[in-house]
Amino acid sequence: MNLTLRIWRQSGPEDKGRMVTYQVDDVSPDMSFLEMLDVLNERLILAGEEPVAFDHDCREGICGMCGMMINGVAHGPQRGTTTCQLHMRQFSDGDTIDIEPWRAQAFPVIKDLVVNRSAFDKIIAAGGYITAPTGSAPEAHSVPVAKANADAAFEAAACIGCGACVAACPNGSGMLFTAAKVTQLSLLPQGQPERYTRVIGMVEAHDEAGFGGCTNAGECTVACPKGIPLNTIGRLNRDYLKATTKRADNTPGS
Ligand code: SF4
Ligand code: FES
Repeated sequence: MNLTLRIWRQSGPEDKGRMVTYQVDDVSPDMSFLEMLDVLNERLILAGEEPVAFDHDCREGICGMCGMMINGVAHGPQRGTTTCQLHMRQFSDGDTIDIEPWRAQAFPVIKDLVVNRSAFDKIIAAGGYITAPTGSAPEAHSVPVAKANADAAFEAAACIGCGACVAACPNGSGMLFTAAKVTQLSLLPQGQPERYTRVIGMVEAHDEAGFGGCTNAGECTVACPKGIPLNTIGRLNRDYLKATTKRADNTPGS
């Protein structure tokens, strides 16, 4: 396939940035999207030009490092797929493909397609852990967990922290990510001691980090490569309501 790429180039956080057009020929349909960018970068390096900066690590759809807007869609045209697992057979010979970084206030661009997602780390640091000493892996049946809770916790735990939900949201909200990280702990026995301080801490960290509010647009769950469902945010909202009610009840004089 011969393709025309229009790629966002930005030399640093202070640069205004612009779209630059590149021609890439002889692309195999079996290449992954990132391999196609590798080919472009090899050619740029050989020509003495600056390669396109993009994030990646595992290239197996599990680390959450990769991510870019492809023709205006987070992670590109294939549902439930990270950019590294997207293959060029999803495109056609002669296509023009627009490639941009995540666009969100809380994810400032560092360079080209690389954004700073440390705002997610701040949310995790505010409560995305347990302090119960769990020791080594317990015997599987020693702590009973209802099947429905185990399934929902596992579903939430599939979040890889890629940020596509934020990039797809018209408000730049990180609520699907936050809800996944709250839910994977709030449904399990080990997560109960900090259940209500956790949800308040993580929601406050979300808001302080510059993410927008959730208005149930639902774009996040469509863009999510791990299919985290929208009702995960409903679970967070219920826990948040209970937590703030408890906090009000425990306030002296209330
Ligand atoms: S909820 Fe989905 S889209 Fe958002 S960070 Fe987690 S895996 Fe990525
Ligand atoms: S590089 Fe790890 S999920 Fe894509």
